[in-house]
Amino acid sequence: MCGIAAYIGEKNAYPIILEALKRLEYRGYDSAGITLYNEGKTTIYKETGAIVQLEKSLGKQSPKGKIGIGHTRWATHGAATAINAHPHHSQDKRLSLVHNGTILNHYILKEDLLANNFSFYGETDTEILVNYLSHQQKKENLNLLETVLRNAGKLEGRSVFVIHDKQDPEKLIACNLGGDLFIGKGKGKQILLCSDKNALAGYADKVLNLLPGMVAVIDKHCHIFDLNTQTELNPEWDKLKLNSEALEKGTYPHFMLKEIFEQETAISQTIKHLTKTSPNRLELVLEPYRRTITRLRKITIIACGTSWHAGLVAKHFFNELADLPVYCEYASEFMPNDVGSGDLVIAISQSGSTADTLQAVQAAKDAGATIISICNVDGSAITNLANVSLLTKAGPEIGVASTKAFTTQLAALLLIASQCGEWRGYLSPNKKKALWQELKNIPIKIKEVLRSNPKIAELAQKYQTANNFLYLGRGTGFPIAMEGALKLKEVSYIHAEGLSAGEMKHGSIALIDEKMPSLFIAPKDEHYDKIMNNLLEIKARHGKIIAITSETDKQIEAEADDIISIPTCPKLLYPFLTVVPLQLFAYHVALLRGTNIDKPRNLAKSVTVE
Ligand code: AGP
Repeated sequence: MCGIAAYIGEKNAYPIILEALKRLEYRGYDSAGITLYNEGKTTIYKETGAIVQLEKSLGKQSPKGKIGIGHTRWATHGAATAINAHPHHSQDKRLSLVHNGTILNHYILKEDLLANNFSFYGETDTEILVNYLSHQQKKENLNLLETVLRNAGKLEGRSVFVIHDKQDPEKLIACNLGGDLFIGKGKGKQILLCSDKNALAGYADKVLNLLPGMVAVIDKHCHIFDLNTQTELNPEWDKLKLNSEALEKGTYPHFMLKEIFEQETAISQTIKHLTKTSPNRLELVLEPYRRTITRLRKITIIACGTSWHAGLVAKHFFNELADLPVYCEYASEFMPNDVGSGDLVIAISQSGSTADTLQAVQAAKDAGATIISICNVDGSAITNLANVSLLTKAGPEIGVASTKAFTTQLAALLLIASQCGEWRGYLSPNKKKALWQELKNIPIKIKEVLRSNPKIAELAQKYQTANNFLYLGRGTGFPIAMEGALKLKEVSYIHAEGLSAGEMKHGSIALIDEKMPSLFIAPKDEHYDKIMNNLLEIKARHGKIIAITSETDKQIEAEADDIISIPTCPKLLYPFLTVVPLQLFAYHVALLRGTNIDKPRNLAKSVTVE
């Protein structure tokens, strides 16, 4: 969670930081704040709520200062109040700091500070952090860089922070202890730092990914140090190739709707990236691990949320295409003893900065497993942690509810599973080729499903007042049921449960009455007949039924209250098509219920705390 933006240069920092924070707002939007340094004075401006509240409270003022640090928050320690909003200052108001992540040993640090007559105005670990550094700086009579280099290593947990010292005002220090921070060099001597590379679009033409374990001193130049060796590094700067309209809604009312409709292109780009362009071609990238893959007896997938649902679909891909059992683990529940050397772990993450996933992947790596990451953000923490990283090409996904990232993850997973199958001699090259061709036809079929958007909007009218929902599926329909339920929960705040249709009669059927609608994922695959039985069991108990089906046949038309039809496709590929109506349904219900669709309450796009 949380977004950091900081600026040092020739221009007024306030409007630049404000714009960057708006681009980072998907990472957290409980409260926001900016510290500006101007002619010997630092002034902190903070507000609860979205960044627009901060903008409103400043009104026409455009506070001065060519150096500033800004933050948009998702509350971890301490309520979402102005006093807890970042930036936080040290007790003597000399240091000002913004922070993303958590300080796990904050309690011990606070005890020591209290014993040294420090007091606190808020409830955050960040305020403890800035005073810890202030205390160490004075105790050891250090400059700011020395303070950070000598003391940041004692902080436990994943964190990124940027700090300013009023007594050494012409510089900023940034420190990465396990998160994301990108440094952009713009025209002239301006430097912008952001938690997400995309937020640099339009301001920078060169970018440096400040990796975990790095400390940057920015004073119109940029010097990078290694926290462990305390020596200066000379990392490569990349050209920043970004167009800022990828960060705009364009003609769409919400990012979520835009990104649902971008799936056709996103999947095509991902397939092309992984099967055509060298050196990113799958066979080349995975070639060094071919021996490991042929000897595997299982694959472990680690992920959270929607990405975990993609992993659960991939369980079927690997089982059917490569004769490989898959253990798909929630990152937060992963047990490192389950893997060892010779094992392969696939880590799936749209943002690449999900703390639970990073933590679990590090543990798997320490246990000796080989890590393949599937990620949508090049240069993110997980891509640096993995042995090999495969990128989805969904483009920036701004809506908190993940949509196009999910279907591009499915595409990457299908390609990997079929490549493994070919190398293991389980899938013939011709069958792999035919399957890849079928996959290339999916974007056109998604375009056909998107034509049901008006019909799904009508359906949303009918069900918008429901307080609960059941989503049911079998086989690959089961993770799609969970994904559909998560979408509805996230954006409309209706409680929804995704479950295996076969499991329903073992308890959840007790929930069925005329007020509990059920949505069945019922494509004409090998599970169709059993799904129909489950549908009739609910019908017999007066439950309302929506069915997503691939061919309207008389039976399902007669039994379901509402039908959404999707085109037919090879059975294994139905998840690509059945998920799209569920995304649209969640979107339209949320629209009718007036929620904040792109920034739902309590959520953030990237969960960078455990
Ligand atoms: C999905 O709509 C949610 N926003 C959430 O479950 C998300 O999938 C999860 O936090 C994992 O994020 P990641 O893919 O960036 O790791």
